Amino acid sequence: MEDRVISGETTVFDEGFEHSLRPQRLGQYIGQEKVKDSLSIFIEAAKGRSESLDHVLLYGPPGLGKTTLASVIANEMDVNVRMTSGPAIERPGDLAAVVSSLEPGDVLFIDEIHRLNRAIEEVLYPAMEDFCLDIVVGKGPSARSIRLDLPPFTLVGATTRAGSLSAPLRDRFGVPLRLEYYEEEPLTEIVIRSARVFDVSIDSAAATEIAKRSRGTPRIANRLLRRVRDYAQVRGDGMISLRAAQEALEMLQVDSFGLDHIDHKLITGMIEQFRGGPVGLDTIAASIGEESVTIEDVYEPFLLQIGFIQRTPRGRVVTHAAYAHFGYPVPDSDK
Ligand code: ADE
Repeated sequence: MEDRVISGETTVFDEGFEHSLRPQRLGQYIGQEKVKDSLSIFIEAAKGRSESLDHVLLYGPPGLGKTTLASVIANEMDVNVRMTSGPAIERPGDLAAVVSSLEPGDVLFIDEIHRLNRAIEEVLYPAMEDFCLDIVVGKGPSARSIRLDLPPFTLVGATTRAGSLSAPLRDRFGVPLRLEYYEEEPLTEIVIRSARVFDVSIDSAAATEIAKRSRGTPRIANRLLRRVRDYAQVRGDGMISLRAAQEALEMLQVDSFGLDHIDHKLITGMIEQFRGGPVGLDTIAASIGEESVTIEDVYEPFLLQIGFIQRTPRGRVVTHAAYAHFGYPVPDSDK
């Protein structure tokens, strides 16, 4: 099992200068206003009572800043964060080793928490509820259960699919928070902030162009910014102008909606091979050679959000808007 400990705040901020691409404090975290408002109240209240923060569940599509937010929470609470993930915790002993090494108030971040197995969940319940661990020692008739007290801690769980969490686990999070796709404006701000961290100059129109094509996702915006910076450095004068951004994004085959070649393959495959659907997820996945979970977790949520596909009981259906965007004549039959 692998995990990482990040002790307190490692970056020193002076005169508002941001050294790190990932914001360290709530005040530096752009967007997700509802989430920030809720968190700031619960954090202030917990600190005011000198208690650990209640357990937090962060859910929503990938790349929206769940891991970043877990570190921000720890920084705001002045505690350490220990990071691990559902698949990394294979045995109850793995979980016991992590939680028993926590200091009072620490944040335990479990990414992809929906992938924890049942046996681990069972160990987690009393740990979350009563801050104790029931561990079975020995085997056969001499096996017995011993109870270990734990320091109070905050579990921050992250998942792209809250629906896959078992109800008993979901119910043990006092603070469930849903992260939404970012609007163009906060995403533009993030691009400008990141450009400052990279020490590269960028036109605001170029930042907006990158934001527009980033599927409402900071991780994508920062990745595109890196590639646009490379392009501007090699083909231009190093400054990111609107033109440099447009040329680079063209080269990267990211279209005006931020859709990449996999989105294209997905939609055009559905149109050409399945007459726009309805078609089942596994069938689509097999036909374009992608994993069903990748389509469901990474590609589909944004395509649903912008109204390019719909989910029906009989399968996925391409909408008229998608036909138009990809230059296909809209079919006569009602979709
Ligand atoms: N970098 C990535 N996500 C961010 C956010 N929400 N705010 C500021 N910088 C970010």
